Amino acid sequence: MPVSLDSVRERDRQDPLADFKSHFALPEGVLYLDGNSLGAQPKAAKQAVDETLDQWRDQLIKGWNQGWFDAPERLGNLLAPVIGAQRGEVSVTDNITLNIFKLLGYILGQCKSGRQAVLSEGGNFPTDGYIAQGYCRVSGAEHRFLPEGGNLAEHLDGVAVVVLSQVNYRTGKLRDMATTTKLVHDHGAEVIWDLAHSAGALPIDLNGCGARYAVGCTYKYLNGGPGAPAFLYVHSDYQDKGWQPLSGWHGHASPFAFEADYTPAGIFPAFALAPIRHLPTPLWKPHSPYGARWTCRR
Ligand SMILES: Cc1ncc(COP(=O)(O)O)c(C=O)c1O
Repeated sequence: MPVSLDSVRERDRQDPLADFKSHFALPEGVLYLDGNSLGAQPKAAKQAVDETLDQWRDQLIKGWNQGWFDAPERLGNLLAPVIGAQRGEVSVTDNITLNIFKLLGYILGQCKSGRQAVLSEGGNFPTDGYIAQGYCRVSGAEHRFLPEGGNLAEHLDGVAVVVLSQVNYRTGKLRDMATTTKLVHDHGAEVIWDLAHSAGALPIDLNGCGARYAVGCTYKYLNGGPGAPAFLYVHSDYQDKGWQPLSGWHGHASPFAFEADYTPAGIFPAFALAPIRHLPTPLWKPHSPYGARWTCRR
């Protein structure tokens, strides 16, 4: 069907999300299409940062008990409906690279099948492969690459975990998450989904796809700003499988008891290596009319 300028303008007029542009502080005349690298600044960000600075100035040490320490879970619960997860399944913490490392250790630490290979996707954003190689070097697991465009089913023998992107960062290729997750599980392996290029841009239904593990970032299509932490998802049925390997004091059951031995807190505190310490008020609230869409806090 031919597409005319008028028909495009008409579609813009009918777009239920058209109003969203007005919530962003874009420079005059800029058509911004680089949210794949860094999302534009929501107008509400400035006020939230100012409130944070005020809170730090006024509350000083009391801030720890007023929402800073539990920010990973609080923000994770806000993010959950956007990616088809439940409350208590998402933590906003660290970066994607570290979160993949933590999940690899968590999954392989409980793996009793004798499988010890980690499969990375050729052509994926390189850090996913680099950190898998780093994990394999320290753990003794074997690392392999799935050739770009290769048939996944033919490369799953002996594989414990495969790390895949839902949307490829260079080509935009979209994987069918439900079919692929089932394929990997049917072969006795686990999949960690990297949602860096889909979270906030596409409807995602992690629970509906049977996904057990996922990571993603918040500075692209979730507009969290430079330095905004990543997120990590573990399905509620898979949260009692042991330790993640980077056991830090924020993940301790009693972080201020300063005990010598590590005792993990519940699953998500335990995954938070370095929780966000300075985001008192979420920028976003879930918005029902568009299901998994969010709206700006006013
Ligand atoms: C698919 C994908 N994974 C991971 C990353 C890097 O994530 P991080 O810097 O949070 O470790 C990027 C960065 O653009 C990415 O595109």
